[in-house]
Amino acid sequence: MVVTDYDDCWLQYDRVDDPDRLSAYRRRCLHAYVSEEGPELRAVRQELRVGLDGLLGREPHLWQHPPRSQDGFLAVGRRDNMEVVRHAVDAAEVDGLDEEGYVLRATEWEGQDCVVVTANTDRGMLFGTFHLLRLLSLGEPIADLDVVEEPRAKERVIDHWDNPFRGSVERGYAGQSIFDWETLPDLRERYWDYARLLASTGINGVVVNNVNTEKPDREGANDAIAGMEGWQLLESENLEKVAALATVFRRYGVRTFLSVNYAAPMLVGDLDTADPLEDDVEAWWKRKADELYERIPDFGGFLVKADSEGQRGPYDYDRDHAEGANVLGRALEPHDGRVFWRAFVYSEHEDRAVQAYETFEPLDGEFHDNVTLQIKNGPIDFQPREPVSTLFGAMPETNVACELQITQEYTGQGVHACSHLPQWEEVLEFDTHGDGEGTEVRDLLVDRAGEGFAGVANVGEDRNWTGHDLAQLNLYGFGRLAWDPTLGSEEVTREWAAQTFGRNPSVVETVTRIQEESWPAVIDYETGGIGLMHMMYNGEARLENHYDPGPEEWPEYTGIAEDGIGLDRTPSGSDYASQYQGPWPARYADPETCPEELLLFFHHLPWEHELDDGTTVIQRLYDNCFEGVEAVRALRERWSALAGTVDERRHRRVAERFDEQVVQAERWRDSLVSYFYEYAGVPDERGRVPLDD
Ligand code: GCU
Repeated sequence: MVVTDYDDCWLQYDRVDDPDRLSAYRRRCLHAYVSEEGPELRAVRQELRVGLDGLLGREPHLWQHPPRSQDGFLAVGRRDNMEVVRHAVDAAEVDGLDEEGYVLRATEWEGQDCVVVTANTDRGMLFGTFHLLRLLSLGEPIADLDVVEEPRAKERVIDHWDNPFRGSVERGYAGQSIFDWETLPDLRERYWDYARLLASTGINGVVVNNVNTEKPDREGANDAIAGMEGWQLLESENLEKVAALATVFRRYGVRTFLSVNYAAPMLVGDLDTADPLEDDVEAWWKRKADELYERIPDFGGFLVKADSEGQRGPYDYDRDHAEGANVLGRALEPHDGRVFWRAFVYSEHEDRAVQAYETFEPLDGEFHDNVTLQIKNGPIDFQPREPVSTLFGAMPETNVACELQITQEYTGQGVHACSHLPQWEEVLEFDTHGDGEGTEVRDLLVDRAGEGFAGVANVGEDRNWTGHDLAQLNLYGFGRLAWDPTLGSEEVTREWAAQTFGRNPSVVETVTRIQEESWPAVIDYETGGIGLMHMMYNGEARLENHYDPGPEEWPEYTGIAEDGIGLDRTPSGSDYASQYQGPWPARYADPETCPEELLLFFHHLPWEHELDDGTTVIQRLYDNCFEGVEAVRALRERWSALAGTVDERRHRRVAERFDEQVVQAERWRDSLVSYFYEYAGVPDERGRVPLDD
């Protein structure tokens, strides 16, 4: 195994311990026949070398022709140049696959037990190889293997919020950026391993720099992001650095994208406007796109944050977002590139929840085919729990992508255990009624090329990549759910746990339960669990830390008052509820039918308002805050009981995090319940609030 000073995450490839399984795998995989084609097949060979060596406990033999072994072999290649593949797979089966799909099949060929991995493209074979290695890592039987698979969503992109030239990562909690722009185009070993990690989950795109591409020193700017200079990556002298990274990602089937500044024609070029309807501007973007594709023929395209938090955009020229995005779309179109245009805008409205829909819904059908509207899962901003954004289901004529936050900005950062997978599952299952009953969010992301997922990355220079060892699941799970959004959170968590911590069933079960129960606990102690949000500390000099409790800083987000709490988003208030379709406006608008977990998001209710089971609002808030802390204590105990079954180093690291999480959860609880009490003046029925000094 290659020795590095950082972890392998879920690519541990631990030796298979079941002797029968091991011999069945050795028979079919110790010899591997891999065709000699494009760059991805070099990655296939390398992965088989590392993976099979680890899993089978013996170095595999790699062949360029069918091996004659007593047992059998693994074949990775196309039908055209491998007889064994033609024997196992019909032409029609592969012809029908998209460019990332593959077939894995066990077969008997000339008296030998074989397994074939085949596809139309090298990328397909790469993804198929990772699938096979995953099955072996999980100890699945392969004697009757028969998998025909393609990704459901076409766009599965990781968004780095890394600040080039500074090395910092906005909302990153795992150390500095792994991308070293000073030394690029020199390549670090770590880039290759990062690309392996991404490809193994099925991710196929990476945006290498922050959406905030310049220091926004204008009105509305977010000071936490001061000093960005990502716009410079578009300068000709920096393109060779981008091209070098693209070489690494290409080998692993991942396309490279850049976040660009809307005013690039002025910042990078020497125009005096970035007005999208000006011919000079159009010509500038075309020239820049041509230059980029000359250097990086498979360049993915651009990600744009426009007219948001101080970043420039088409509003500067009185143009709308479709006009703004389409000029970039036209420039990239001849090269098969794509624009991801973010729908994250807010400012004018008292209730920021309503704005994205009001801005974008009227533009449905106006966006160029190669523009994708990238919509955050909820209408506020990656809060522990939010309702689903009303834009899903409201833009049938537009390509949409769902933006999820892999990094834990509001869910405990690098310290708290919080699997986002159950949250994502909840979002993906939501029935928008966009195209009638049964139009779930996940159905809206898989229809066309240009639709899919974007995830804000959580990786950095830390040895374990993600700060918290358990946070590796959020990266892994993002890729898996983007590949197949019908997979369940628990299923993905279980496969991650087995690959990461070994196949011991009780370890897998315990780790899975800890991960599955971590999010509800965080919701309880950080929000009180019935629809409140955004109660975190804002920090000095507006440097938002988003980690510590600070409910008193945000009364406009909680609607707290002496008479009650929550925000009225029904027709008598901001009316956000009416942006939904089907039964949702009515359901959300009535406190009797509004789901309890979102109640105070949609309603301002008296403290003594009774919930279904007769408990009052204030009492439920108290109870949930206390229960959240108890839940974290229970998770800590379960982790602690794994001592001796999980390697000591990782066990200790996570145990230390849990100790800290309990302390922080208590702070959150105490801060929130005191705050609620201060306004409500109602003591806890169980005598816990007011708190003893
Ligand atoms: C949040 C986050 C910012 C980020 C922004 C975005 O507001 O705190 O750091 O820039 O989202 O998604 O653009």
